[in-house]
Amino acid sequence: MEHREHFATKIGFILAAAGSAIGLGAIWKFPYTAGQNGGGAFLLVFLLFTIILALPLLLGEFSVGRFAQQDAVRSFKKIAPDGGWHWIGILGMVTCFILLSFYSVIGGWIVVYLIKVANGSLFDLSASQYADAFQQTISNPYISLGSQLIFLLLTIFVVAKGVQKGIEKTSSIMMPALAILFIILIIRSVTLDNAVAGMKFLFVPDFSKLTSHTILDAMGQSFFTLSLGVSVMITYSSYLPKSASLPRSALSIVGMNILVVLFAGLAIFPAVFSFGLEPDAGPVLLFNVLPTIFSQLPLGMIFFAAFLLVFLFAALTSAFSMLEIIVAVISQGNMQKRRKWSWIIGAAIFVVGIPSALSYGVLSDVSIFGKSIFDLADFTVSNVLMPIGALLIALFVSWKMKKSDLYTEMQQGSNIKKGIFNTWFFLIRYLAPILIIAVMLDVLGIFS
Ligand code: PFF
Repeated sequence: MEHREHFATKIGFILAAAGSAIGLGAIWKFPYTAGQNGGGAFLLVFLLFTIILALPLLLGEFSVGRFAQQDAVRSFKKIAPDGGWHWIGILGMVTCFILLSFYSVIGGWIVVYLIKVANGSLFDLSASQYADAFQQTISNPYISLGSQLIFLLLTIFVVAKGVQKGIEKTSSIMMPALAILFIILIIRSVTLDNAVAGMKFLFVPDFSKLTSHTILDAMGQSFFTLSLGVSVMITYSSYLPKSASLPRSALSIVGMNILVVLFAGLAIFPAVFSFGLEPDAGPVLLFNVLPTIFSQLPLGMIFFAAFLLVFLFAALTSAFSMLEIIVAVISQGNMQKRRKWSWIIGAAIFVVGIPSALSYGVLSDVSIFGKSIFDLADFTVSNVLMPIGALLIALFVSWKMKKSDLYTEMQQGSNIKKGIFNTWFFLIRYLAPILIIAVMLDVLGIFS
């Protein structure tokens, strides 16, 4: 029988699953997507989706994974040998492949800033000068490809070595460090001139800004930040001992994630308004704002370096999970295969990611369906493939699995009340599919 690795501790699982969840999604994507979608109303819809849709789905993925004790594809095969359900896992692998191809571009931007801080090239500039300098840097093809490559090499190296070793330990230092650095950043940001305008933007919803696209973005964001719909959470929970409580794990991961989203919003928007930058600057928003805030702190560059390190770590732990689920399916617990395939898949991801990396420079004129290559890849993953994956998983869990099996699985390690279980089952069986389909159809203009 194949030996399956387990997480050393329950907290190890929480940290790894939270590590997958907390990453660029909350820290980089949330602020710029909220910035493009009017702020407060987006935050509100995002929170609503996170609680009524994403949380039940996360618990659904956990139940599948720990029940089946298999990887993203074999979990489905084991539970439902016929009917092609395992294609959900394959869809997840494909989604993670595309996702990592552009995620690594942004991971590379963190690396770029780390190098810049280390070599002292971030002198006291104004906010707009920082933004211009950053634009110039990422439009350089050698820098963007080189930094993307460094990020991917780090990811491949860890995944090739096997799950979790070392990551668990490091996470337990990095996550609290992230919180502390954010708090310092927030204190600086909210005490800047005109910070109130940023707080209003984030917390006072302007419902006239809500469009079908905003709603789809908010739904995509809630799946993206929790790594849902791609079977990553199925794979991770398959390593989880039966003594751990699934509902409690899901709640704590969602809680941490919401906290980081709020931290990021509070750190970024007051500063954006104070410095007179545009909240809808898109993917570069965070990178334009950060150096200016840090440059206004005593020992700013040291804090900036620390922040970037933790940020890089958060992005890497998410990237590991994307590559991990692909490699876990292919290597089936065989260490030699794991090593080989981590490198092969990683190399392929780099090649596929080249156009995304260049879309801020030499390919910036290329536009497909009105979007840059980078934005198109992001849109396809976040707003099309992840929602479809989530929809299929919701259907699988609630219509294909036995309700009694789900209840037994959820009872292991927890004493969840029947009423709560039934509420969850209702949400995942009816509300989730209907809501996902409605939001997607709405964007296609079916209801208008
Ligand atoms: N949740 C990660 C983030 O917010 O950065 C992104 C992510 C990781 C999505 C892993 C999907 C995934 F499978």
